[in-house]
Amino acid sequence: MRSDDPATAPADAVWQGFGIATMAAGAGPYGAIENGALAVRDGRILWAGSRADLPPALIGPRTALHEGAGRWITPTLIDCHTHLVFGGNRAAEFEARLAGESYESAARKGGGILSTVRATRAAGEEELVEAARPRLARLMADGVRVVEIKSGYGLTLESELTMLRAARALGRAANIEVRTTFLGAHAVPPEFAGRADAYVDHLVADMLPAIAAENLADAVDAFAESIAFSTPQIRRLFDAAQRLGLPVKLHADQLTDGDGARLATEYGALSADHLEYTSESGVEAMAAAGTVAVLLPGAYATVGAAQPPPVAAFRAHGVGMAVATDCNPGSSPLCSLLMAANLACALFRMTPEEALAGVTREAARALGLAGRLGTLEAGKEASFAVWRIGHPRELAYWMGGLGPEAVLHAK
Ligand code: NIG
Ligand code: FE
Repeated sequence: MRSDDPATAPADAVWQGFGIATMAAGAGPYGAIENGALAVRDGRILWAGSRADLPPALIGPRTALHEGAGRWITPTLIDCHTHLVFGGNRAAEFEARLAGESYESAARKGGGILSTVRATRAAGEEELVEAARPRLARLMADGVRVVEIKSGYGLTLESELTMLRAARALGRAANIEVRTTFLGAHAVPPEFAGRADAYVDHLVADMLPAIAAENLADAVDAFAESIAFSTPQIRRLFDAAQRLGLPVKLHADQLTDGDGARLATEYGALSADHLEYTSESGVEAMAAAGTVAVLLPGAYATVGAAQPPPVAAFRAHGVGMAVATDCNPGSSPLCSLLMAANLACALFRMTPEEALAGVTREAARALGLAGRLGTLEAGKEASFAVWRIGHPRELAYWMGGLGPEAVLHAK
């Protein structure tokens, strides 16, 4: 992608002789430029294109030059769906599931999400940050520099605030961009057992306004499922989110087809997530609304869903597909976004190119950040990773463990 506006002043830095997977939409496979050049000024991409076309004026006496020798540059990776902040773990539930207990039955018995709620409430902010720090470090080792983190294991105003503050503190400490999502509608807390509507009243009247007042959430999420919240309950929450100007997203159709994808689109959701059981009409609604499908192969593999999400239908209808770890202690104890990309290919039959777009361009769209991040195009932020690989398809080919050599991300 070349800027139309020929640059005249020199760049701060130029990367040349690299393969550049711009991941720009409609720019051919991977938006790839072999023997490319990328010029950066003031933390922004000034120019990207073929090395042979690099305007000479971009290289001045103080321009730092980086020689690629065949290495590749991609956008930094974006994990657009995680529950990275939590107390304890659920290895015992994993064992029980392998012995025959389903995810839903553990949840109905007060285990599942509620067991993590107990462990999370018992931890303070600092303890939550410390527990999440190594998980974040593992994501970053894959080249991740933007992470969405949800609340939803506190389920009281105080503990939800603590989770969101811990998420923000984590981002500051690691110097990476954290986008927080309020997921108070994750499960009905024990204090409201059998009174889900009263809990939703509390979410709408007290929790959401307090969290919005502290500016602690960039979006609002909910779990639409028979073991969680009904369509009318989610409508009330989303109406309130809209009144506060907060974008929404939804855990939809993960265990059953509850028409969750369509519900998300009625609110112009940034994304609908999971989607194993989404019907063709749900896919069509997503296409019409421009809602991104966030696919979570770690949860699919761990929960043992009977069918994968309708990837062919998303593709046919032009619905953007993001891929994320869903890192959480119950359904997806996965801290590698590259492994998620690999699993999306192996389990969902996404192509390696779709998987890489899923952890860059489409993940940026799913977070409402596409104007700044996700592709390497003039005007966007200079946020990219350098890889010692022969082709960008290798990123989804290796089953995790392939770290970038360097990452540039001015936060
Ligand atoms: O994304 N579906 C609901 N929420 C999480 C699981 C949370 C948990 O089991 O702790 C998910 O899969
Ligand atoms: Fe999730």
